[in-house]
Amino acid sequence: MDAADRIDELRALVAHHNERYHVLDAPEIPDADFDAMVRELRSLETDHPDLAGSDSPLDAVGGAARMMFSPVTHAVPMTSLDNAMNEDELRAWGDRVVRGLTNDDGHEAIVTFVCEMKVDGLALSIRYEGGEFVRAATRGDGKVGEDVTANVATIKDVPRRLSRRSGESGTGTPDVVEVRGEVYMPVAVFDDLNESYEAAGQPRLVNPRNAAAGSLRQKNPEMTAKRCLSFWSYQLGQVDGGPEFTSHLETFDFLRSIGMPVSPEIATFASLDDVLRHCLHWQQHRHELGYEIDGVVVKVDDLAQREQLGFTSRAPRWAIAYKFPPEERTTTLLDIQVSVGRTGRTTPFAVLEPVFVGGSTVSMATLHNQDQVRLKDVRPGDTVIVRKAGDVIPEVVGPVLSAREAGTQPWEFPTTCPCPLGSTLVRLEGEADTRCVEPKCPFQRDQRVIYWASRGAMDIEGLGERTVMALTEAGLIEDAADIYSLAADEVVELEGFAMPSAEKLVVAIDESRRQPLQRLLTALGVKHLGPSASTALAGEFITLDRIMAADSVSLAAVDGVGPVIADSITSWFAQESNRAFIEKLRIAGLDFGSEEAAAAAAAAKQSVPQVLEGKAVVVTGSVPGYTRDEAADAIIARGGKSPGSVSKKTFALVVGESPGASKSTKAESLGVPIVDASLFDELLESGELPASMI
Ligand code: IVH
Repeated sequence: MDAADRIDELRALVAHHNERYHVLDAPEIPDADFDAMVRELRSLETDHPDLAGSDSPLDAVGGAARMMFSPVTHAVPMTSLDNAMNEDELRAWGDRVVRGLTNDDGHEAIVTFVCEMKVDGLALSIRYEGGEFVRAATRGDGKVGEDVTANVATIKDVPRRLSRRSGESGTGTPDVVEVRGEVYMPVAVFDDLNESYEAAGQPRLVNPRNAAAGSLRQKNPEMTAKRCLSFWSYQLGQVDGGPEFTSHLETFDFLRSIGMPVSPEIATFASLDDVLRHCLHWQQHRHELGYEIDGVVVKVDDLAQREQLGFTSRAPRWAIAYKFPPEERTTTLLDIQVSVGRTGRTTPFAVLEPVFVGGSTVSMATLHNQDQVRLKDVRPGDTVIVRKAGDVIPEVVGPVLSAREAGTQPWEFPTTCPCPLGSTLVRLEGEADTRCVEPKCPFQRDQRVIYWASRGAMDIEGLGERTVMALTEAGLIEDAADIYSLAADEVVELEGFAMPSAEKLVVAIDESRRQPLQRLLTALGVKHLGPSASTALAGEFITLDRIMAADSVSLAAVDGVGPVIADSITSWFAQESNRAFIEKLRIAGLDFGSEEAAAAAAAAKQSVPQVLEGKAVVVTGSVPGYTRDEAADAIIARGGKSPGSVSKKTFALVVGESPGASKSTKAESLGVPIVDASLFDELLESGELPASMI
């Protein structure tokens, strides 16, 4: 295709997607894909000024408002921002700023940069007259927006009346103030909303920005009120009869003083190196905030310098949006396949044309279950949106319907297991999962052994998925108990093994014989029985034989167990094949727990003060000097509990290196104290929150 055709094609695409995003609040493609189109078009137009013409969609900011609401002409236009997609582009912007401010005498200008979060919401302009809230408008095309006053009036963060300032000169409330900022939906609100959508069988909302846009554009303000939107202010529009400002930081002080919400995440830097460090920090930690951000906005602080720099046709030269690498991209869905888990649960997953998203190349993504595939209606061949956020597993958000070929059919869930036995799959009434119920299913068997060896269970290094598959394929093992009779000269025959590594594996397997009872219990893979209930049971019953002999009632009486887990355990042990498996393990010499060892442990425990008695301490990330187990053991040894998730009752969340973001966010929203891992020893010592953090 030649440049002229490509320019035409891109112009049509950009105009279409611009309208979908800004006017209809229904984007079809991720921002990153849109940005890529805009960039390609911009560079083609630059390279071919002869073809540029005058009707490029790049000149338009946002979209002409759809005008479901009355139009509002902005007294001061609402411009957009240019983007920097990487370090180099940010530096190039910084250089342009400094150059633009440097006088002829060659003395380099001194610039202070203010960094703010780039909140992923919608820009609003809120007008106060005589201190009273009078109007709120969306950005629209930058000149004319839509009147959303009634809806914005329901947002708690937006004051109906400004606070009166006192003290400085020029006090009182200005006659007119236009406050600009971003209206957004907090992540917790979005998650709750989506949970209720899912429960009602409705498709999930794509992202908080869309949800916020939809909520703001409700014809009935009561609906908006229910959506619990929030607002951060970051800029001023028209101001009449107010104080004069010389810097952006002063405008923040002013915004705070009149009662507008200002994000605490504002930082100033004297060098672009520091700006960049700050941007990269938030790129890593973006999910720790209670709201979504897609970048960091960097602004020149000095208002006189801003004046000197001025605007391009689209955006100010004194500000730039450093955009994070995308967490959503589109790609082709090559196929939908079904995997079989250790309990026979089947999980549909997408086989994708590999795509770089969320920091890694993704070629597979879960589709959760049958209902999810039906709701999303993704079909092999579709262009789909793939999302990978932080350490969360990648998922398929949905299809890009406008790109679907005509005549395709919805995907049908298979009726038989994909394993060689091909037994009929079963979905019980009221259950979300479709299962393979064939006890001899080889896929389930492989998964059970993989789970047995996994980190949370018997933790056997070197016995991962590939090795397990190779062992079962070679006919060396039938179940997890068989691994204990493997010899190094059998393992060495497998592909990828040489003598030292084969011997190492056999030693690791041997060492796992001595894993404590709670790990053995977990490794059995009993439905619903996870590590924390296993630990509780092991602590109470001491030996596996006593657990096997116990009835549901006494199992359920253990704190943290309950009737569902208890019933699952008794029915597991009631199965003949499982009892035979246990006997194989006994013969293999695994540690089933003993009264003597428990008595010795109890004696040791008595010498440790029970300072965390009844307190739940959750650990996320790695705590220096402790393995995951050791950190949990240290808490339990002091009478505390170490559950896997944060709740209202959590005493403290200890955050180590590379923590999971969701735990911190949840702790923050529930007001659970967050303790840095460096203070963990102090917490263990006193059983109280470390003094230095209170
Ligand atoms: S300043 C003239 N600051 O990003 C400067 N914008 O891509 C106008 N946004 O339209 C914008 N957080 O909707 C600014 N801290 C922030 C922002 C922010 C999010 C949005 C805003 C703007 C868009 C530009």
